[in-house]
Amino acid sequence: MRIVLVGPPGAGKGTQATRLAEKLSIPHISTGDLFRANISQQTELGKLAKSYMDAGNLVPDEVTIAMAKDRMEQPDAENGFLLDGFPRNVSQAEALDELLTAEHMELDAVLDLEAPEDEVVKRIAGRRICRKDSSHVFHVTYSAPKKEGVCDVCGGELYQRDDDSEATVRTRLEVYHTQTEPIIDYYKAQGLVVTINALGPVDEVTGRALEALKRQG
Ligand code: AP5
Ligand code: ZN
Repeated sequence: MRIVLVGPPGAGKGTQATRLAEKLSIPHISTGDLFRANISQQTELGKLAKSYMDAGNLVPDEVTIAMAKDRMEQPDAENGFLLDGFPRNVSQAEALDELLTAEHMELDAVLDLEAPEDEVVKRIAGRRICRKDSSHVFHVTYSAPKKEGVCDVCGGELYQRDDDSEATVRTRLEVYHTQTEPIIDYYKAQGLVVTINALGPVDEVTGRALEALKRQG
């Protein structure tokens, strides 16, 4: 399956993507995680991306699309993938369509994770991520690690993302409304959008997404 996950910052895209990718046996491709890996390895791409990310703005399309394309062309993505955080504006959605068309491929669904603004702000404020593996995501109250500041899965140190400050979150939400939300209409026109209520326990949200994918497929 080829799936796009969309939703405001903090809606739970990364959390759900990890679970869905495992259940569906497809790779989870997160442009945010790819940028963060570049930042920690101090690559040129990482240095460029960091300035945009810290301000809450989108990294320029040219480098983002090239990075996403490169990842989607890896052998493990041949039979499907779950895109998290890409595409993030209409020109990226158009670029993805071109890429898929060239490979005679199609998207199966676009899952739109819906959560109100006050909830996503709370989720982001309490989020803690593992330094060793960014798919290990916790929340200080909703899914607290057994030992404060330490990852339950691998023992890595937990940290708060630089772009999770309150001011940056406001910008990210605004960028989401102005630049990313239009892709929902873009994909509605293709009959691909399935709206998922992202409130409630993590497993329930995963269940809703899997049910919706069954109906769509
Ligand atoms: P990215 O990393 O994609 O961040 P985002 O879209 O802002 O989304 P988040 O990672 O903040 O949230 P999420 O929805 O994944 O929530 P999570 O599962 O962690 O992008 C970061 C930056 O990179 C962008 O601002 C941009 O600069 C750049 N970038 C990335 N892609 C780009 C692109 N395509 N083009 C240009 N620039 C790009 O959950 C949040 C918290 O809530 C966690 O603590 C979690 O434990 C908790 N939680 C999750 N689900 C639940 C639940 N059901 N109940 C209670 N708590 C929950
Ligand atoms: Zn970890």
